[in-house]
Amino acid sequence: MSLALGGGFAALYAAGIVYFGFSPLATDVGYMPTQPIPYNHALHAGILGLDCTYCHATVDESPHAAVPPTQVCMNCHTGIKRESAEPAKSRIAAISAAYAASEAIKWVKVHDLPDYAYFNHSAHVRRGIGCASCHGRVDQMDVVYQAQPLSMGWCLECHREPERFLRPLDKITDMAYALTPEEQLRVGRELRQKYNINPSQDCSTCHR
Ligand code: HEC
Ligand code: HEC
Ligand code: HEC
Ligand code: HEC
Ligand code: HEC
Repeated sequence: MSLALGGGFAALYAAGIVYFGFSPLATDVGYMPTQPIPYNHALHAGILGLDCTYCHATVDESPHAAVPPTQVCMNCHTGIKRESAEPAKSRIAAISAAYAASEAIKWVKVHDLPDYAYFNHSAHVRRGIGCASCHGRVDQMDVVYQAQPLSMGWCLECHREPERFLRPLDKITDMAYALTPEEQLRVGRELRQKYNINPSQDCSTCHR
């Protein structure tokens, strides 16, 4: 009895891995869930020019990039509100209302790796991989979407040849930074050697 039960769980677990491994959450480029309040990166990070770390403050210290608490929005939106035209006015009013009621805004996750895969932001951004290499031109997105497959093959492609992506540490959040492919290889190889960068391809690096 207990054996049969154990076998059943193992089969379910394996099915889960296969299912989540290929689920759209993990692999669908272009995935763009509807948010409780439409939030515009092209406006805030593009036109207003706010640095990514103004809101995603933990990205260079911790595995997670943390979406900002409403408090951060209120730094500006206590003032910037009344003079706006619709629909901006109602959207901003919804932020103030959530803040006044001490209710967190329930942002829907856009990127979501399966639990059996381990990812760490600080390990990447402190070693010279820019946000744009994995998230695309977020500063041009009205609605943020998944720009890259986030598949195992995609991770490994860069872990094998990081020089194709490495950039100076002061350019991590610079969305417009781009070199010609030849220049990138030259600079990337230099950075790789200088900082001794060697991303691991061992299974246990990402499956712990
Ligand atoms: C003023 C605050 C603010 C700034 C500045 C900002 N973001 Fe965001 N970001 C948010 C909020 C709020 C969300 C959650 C809502 C959403 O997904 O649109 C978010 C979501 C994201 C997501 C999707 C997270 C997920 O659920 O997977 C990514 C990726 C992202 N931001 C990257 C960036 C990058 C790159 C920059 C700099 C170019 C940036 N953000 C600048 C507030 C900000
Ligand atoms: C540095 C200041 C600043 C911060 C911080 C800020 N905003 Fe804004 N936001 C603005 C300005 C300026 C506008 C343009 C106002 C207008 O259009 O009247 C704006 C407009 C908006 C609008 C209306 C425009 C639209 O796209 O409909 C929404 C919604 C909004 N912000 C949400 C947020 C959220 C959510 C946060 C926190 C994650 C945030 N803002 C943080 C400055 C800021
Ligand atoms: C090497 C690729 C890579 C780089 C570089 C990168 N991200 Fe991410 N980001 C991811 C992946 C993968 C996820 C999904 C993580 C998960 O589901 O566990 C993610 C998720 C996020 C999230 C959602 C919250 C979270 O931690 O799950 C935000 C916000 C975000 N990234 C912002 C940024 C910003 C801002 C930068 C640059 C400072 C950046 N990312 C650099 C790959 C990257
Ligand atoms: C664009 C290049 C790039 C992509 C894409 C990328 N990585 Fe990395 N990864 C790196 C670099 C560079 C390092 C740092 C290597 C070093 O410090 O020597 C790294 C390091 C790591 C580490 C080691 C962190 C630690 O604790 O030491 C993990 C885990 C990791 N990556 C997981 C992933 C996963 C999972 C994905 C896909 C979802 C991914 N990476 C995608 C370039 C990349
Ligand atoms: C650089 C990070 C990284 C390394 C190294 C890595 N994986 Fe993965 N692996 C992932 C990610 C991310 C996923 C989830 C992919 C998805 O959701 O599509 C994954 C998914 C899987 C899956 C689920 C099925 C599938 O293909 O989606 C299996 C099985 C797997 N990995 C086995 C391995 C084995 C065995 C190794 C060592 C030879 C390994 N992985 C090395 C990141 C990595």
